[in-house]
Amino acid sequence: MDVRPAEHGGQVHWASRQTGRTLSEILDFSANINPLGPPASVKAALTEALDDIRFYPDSSHYRVKRAVAERYGISVESVLVSNGATEAIDLALRSLHPQRVIILEPAFSEYRAAAHRHHLAWIALPLLRPDFTPPWDLLEDTARSGDLVIWNNPHNPSGGRVVRRDFAARMAELAGRGVSFLIDESFIDFLIDRDDTSALLEALDPNRKVVVVRSLTKFLAIPGLRFGYALAHPATISGIEQFRDRWSVSHLAQEAAIAGLGDEAFAKKTQSWLLQSMQQVRDLWGSVPECQLQPTRVNFFLLRWNDEALSRRLAFHLLQRGVIVRLCEGFLGLGASYWRLAMRSLEENIRLYQAVQEVLKEVRADG
Ligand SMILES: Cc1ncc(COP(=O)(O)O)c(C=O)c1O
Repeated sequence: MDVRPAEHGGQVHWASRQTGRTLSEILDFSANINPLGPPASVKAALTEALDDIRFYPDSSHYRVKRAVAERYGISVESVLVSNGATEAIDLALRSLHPQRVIILEPAFSEYRAAAHRHHLAWIALPLLRPDFTPPWDLLEDTARSGDLVIWNNPHNPSGGRVVRRDFAARMAELAGRGVSFLIDESFIDFLIDRDDTSALLEALDPNRKVVVVRSLTKFLAIPGLRFGYALAHPATISGIEQFRDRWSVSHLAQEAAIAGLGDEAFAKKTQSWLLQSMQQVRDLWGSVPECQLQPTRVNFFLLRWNDEALSRRLAFHLLQRGVIVRLCEGFLGLGASYWRLAMRSLEENIRLYQAVQEVLKEVRADG
């Protein structure tokens, strides 16, 4: 059995084949999916919508765009919906067709993959430690008119975030020089105080080319269905729409998103679980001598093991028990001594911790 150096988390089908367990017997800490979902409202909407899969989906996305627009108090023309955030990222890169893509790393591997697909030159700039914040001075020296900067805020895999007052002026300065931005806010719904983090105001500004991309896939726990969206000035959105497959967002995904966007009770329940989970993570992992915990603002966190061999050994033993973690080998600037762990239910979080403790006990006994 191998600890697969995966490009993505959530390899439950692979883990199921490796371990002979069913999908539901796999405890997946490698994908950052809300453990409370999918919400009952979404499941009910899906059941209701099932009969209508004999029709093509609404290719104008009329109702779901309206639901997104109403939620944020913006115009429908500023909304594009997609088959997961990944499709929105791909479409935005294809349409904006920058001279170079500047990716702030470590980052979601699909940014690079999309740049490759569209034959775009790309460069990586490192986020600044310890908080994984943008290297603004370096960006000002490096970025030229015609470049596109991709930045993920809140940031996967560190769990950090930068508030708007700390990025607005620096972004405006670069945008004024003809640099465009794609801000991936796929985890923003998990923030307790999300309004002061979004670049939505920048995205709606007619004088700048800023696209905000988001995902409902993780928050609603619908990775088998996927739903994402992009928010930008109407002129930018209509440019992106030109290139799209109009039927990529299924009828079921559209109905799930409409129900999920309106489910305030689920959002509140999620926030309350998250607050407890964050405290639990600090209590459990904050004092393990073999690793350091990176402070987080969202539903996953980064651990750094003191020893890469130990990290691999632990991941291997966990996989044998049907537990998967995300080794950060594929992330530029991290490596296999880092794990990214999703927060799951409070009981499951304890199960992971205890499983790690069991293996650590064996390791310590071996000397
Ligand atoms: C930062 C980030 N953006 C986007 C996505 C993709 O979201 P979706 O599944 O909606 O395409 C992911 C998934 O892991 C992600 O981590």
